[in-house]
Amino acid sequence: MPELDLMRLRFLTTSLLATLLLGTNESLAETGKRDTQELIERGARLYQDYCAICHGKEGIGEPSIPWSIRRPDYIAAMPLNESSRAWHHGDDNLMRIILKGNPRSRTRMPIWDGVLSVDQARDLVAYIKSLWGDRILECQGPRHMSCM
Ligand code: HEC
Repeated sequence: MPELDLMRLRFLTTSLLATLLLGTNESLAETGKRDTQELIERGARLYQDYCAICHGKEGIGEPSIPWSIRRPDYIAAMPLNESSRAWHHGDDNLMRIILKGNPRSRTRMPIWDGVLSVDQARDLVAYIKSLWGDRILECQGPRHMSCM
């Protein structure tokens, strides 16, 4: 069936891409699911150490600076809680952004590859997802467009 083949192809391409980029395949595809408390707690500690300085306490985001006094290329660190669009990304995409940066934006966000391991990025994603309600979590990732 052509549809099934297309799905399988998309799945294979995504896993292959993830394997190439992240060097692993194991920690992917929990998109839309709540992670274990253990992962969330580890992620919360990492978040505090590496991310809160920009993305704020519990992912509330960076206070905005009036455009008249900020540099033209300044981009605020958006909230990672459900008030922004972090939940539009699936788990694998979030991990890629954390480790490799977002290819679609020029950014102040450091690239964490080499500082954080793939497992640590996974823990961070677990924590970020814990900041979302059930409904948002259900609609996480590419399906967000048709879900809400
Ligand atoms: C120096 C400030 C800074 C630090 C530290 C930082 N970020 Fe970011 N982050 C940003 C900025 C600015 C953006 C948005 C701009 C962009 O991507 O171009 C961003 C974007 C993101 C996005 C994309 C969100 C979306 O809605 O598309 C994720 C996910 C993210 N950061 C996670 C993290 C995590 C996890 C950490 C800690 C390991 C972290 N960031 C540390 C500044 C920072």
